[in-house]
Amino acid sequence: MTDRKKLVAGNWKMNGLMASLSEVQAMVTGAASVPGVELAICPPATLAAAIGGALKASSIGLGGQDCHAEKSGAFTGDISAEMWADVGAKYVIVGHSERRTLHGETDAIVSAKASAVIRAGLTPIICVGESLAERDSGRTLDVITTQLAGSVPDAAGQTPVVIAYEPVWAIGTGRTPTVAQVAEVHGAIAAAMEARFGAAGKGIRLLYGGSVKPDNAKELMAVAGVDGALVGGASLKAADFLRIAQGCA
Ligand code: PGA
Repeated sequence: MTDRKKLVAGNWKMNGLMASLSEVQAMVTGAASVPGVELAICPPATLAAAIGGALKASSIGLGGQDCHAEKSGAFTGDISAEMWADVGAKYVIVGHSERRTLHGETDAIVSAKASAVIRAGLTPIICVGESLAERDSGRTLDVITTQLAGSVPDAAGQTPVVIAYEPVWAIGTGRTPTVAQVAEVHGAIAAAMEARFGAAGKGIRLLYGGSVKPDNAKELMAVAGVDGALVGGASLKAADFLRIAQGCA
């Protein structure tokens, strides 16, 4: 079971070069200004070792953006959860909508990856979210509960996991759901997790993601049932990332 300290995780996606280490240093320095908020950075794999080293003595955690379900083997281009553990990661994002859409990842694949993250002793950040067509046709809660049932492994009843609600139409678009829409979906996720896992389900932290910016973080993070943010574009710059974290405090 997890505590309810808010978590702000930065998903760098396919962005960042060695020069980005200066931003990481600024994040490390600035983290002291948000002591009540847990921070994590999920860089591309090429930067994992360098950023992991820079974060080692800091309070900011390292995370991966994806992993393979197997421990090792002939899987060219893939990275295992054990490899993320080896570079000091604490989290691995699984089931991001860009993986689901662009790499054809099904709920079963996402569940296998989440299980692999747990097997490696790390915490999966399992993403779910509806498309615009699904929302417009009134199917949001059905889609989310189906994704949860298929993507969250049974082990989530015994070990910490994080769930991120990321409406696909809000990712990278500058559009965000209303406070009422976020509250409705987070409430439904919490209810589904409690129905499946009892008290352990109640302890699962639920992040909101999709166009979280310094200007809207305070409002979104104040919504009942929101335990933090998964931040894409605005996590690349230390000043923006830290202002979002301040919005949680
Ligand atoms: P965004 O991405 O903040 O750039 O919208 C969020 C995400 O995809 O995790």
